Amino acid sequence: MTTHLPKVELHLHLEGAAPPAFIRGLAQEKSVNLDGIFDEAGNYSYSDFNDFLRVYEAATSVLTSPEDYARLTTAVLEQCAANDVIYAETFLSPDFCGGRDVGAWREYLHAMQEAATKAEAQDGIILRGIVTCIRHFGPEKAKETALCAAETAGDWIVGYGIAGDEMAGKPSDFAYSFDMAREAGLRLTAHAGEWGGAASVRDAWRDLRVERIGHGVHAIQDPALVDELAEAGVVLEVCPGSNVALGVAKRWADHPIEKLRAAGVKVTVSTDDPPFFHTTMRAEYDRLADTFGWDDEIFGQIAKTSAEAAFCDAETRTTLLTKLETP
Ligand code: ADE
Ligand code: ZN
Repeated sequence: MTTHLPKVELHLHLEGAAPPAFIRGLAQEKSVNLDGIFDEAGNYSYSDFNDFLRVYEAATSVLTSPEDYARLTTAVLEQCAANDVIYAETFLSPDFCGGRDVGAWREYLHAMQEAATKAEAQDGIILRGIVTCIRHFGPEKAKETALCAAETAGDWIVGYGIAGDEMAGKPSDFAYSFDMAREAGLRLTAHAGEWGGAASVRDAWRDLRVERIGHGVHAIQDPALVDELAEAGVVLEVCPGSNVALGVAKRWADHPIEKLRAAGVKVTVSTDDPPFFHTTMRAEYDRLADTFGWDDEIFGQIAKTSAEAAFCDAETRTTLLTKLETP
């Protein structure tokens, strides 16, 4: 039974993991009308990726204080722990947490970290943060985001990344902000090859000098690139359920994760924005087992790859690897 295996999740947007009932509750408390973003069953409702981004930002608009983010962190970590996730990295955007003001960002961060510490004491789950700029907000805002990241880099903020509309601008536009983050000692990842093709993956890898790629699945279009990624040990944060829900892959059987794995690329498995895509880590594992026949050994390898690619410190990594070896 693959479902209950211990899991490591590297690609999880904190706001994107907000249960719809949690967002509705906050909207009610604040008398904000968010009716347009839910369907009749109370789930998030959107028509395509751009609409998804709109609904995502509308849902996020009711998260207006450090306390809101603390409550969100608690709710999300409960879900993670219920899915046997022992370690997660979450994308955090100072854009939504105090409008990229470093002082405000510190307060939001403090609240989230406090909530994470409580969850770790209660459920053993470990969380770390990756500060993430938003591509369609543009490179100037990304520089402010990178400053927030650089000022709070350390044991808990461990990485820097970019999410949002992959069709907006090009990776090199954001190189300055990635350089700032790198100089502050942060590890780097970038969303690429979700909507863009293999060239988009290559550009992000080359121009931002990242060690992980968020999604990266369209690398499959270019066999030479697949070989290069495998050779260089670049890690793909693959989110198959997200890809199927958004139409990046038509069906699970068409998803390239197994071909990438078979070609020697380091693939990992994550949920991206689980309630938006009606998924969980257990559901991802179940579908991968059903679709590709993945067994405990393969899932064990995936979890090990994930722990090795995590941006945490060496001591935390050793803890994770020990937990994975002796579940
Ligand atoms: N932000 C949240 N989810 C995302 C996704 N799947 N792609 C790009 N940006 C995102
Ligand atoms: Zn993502």
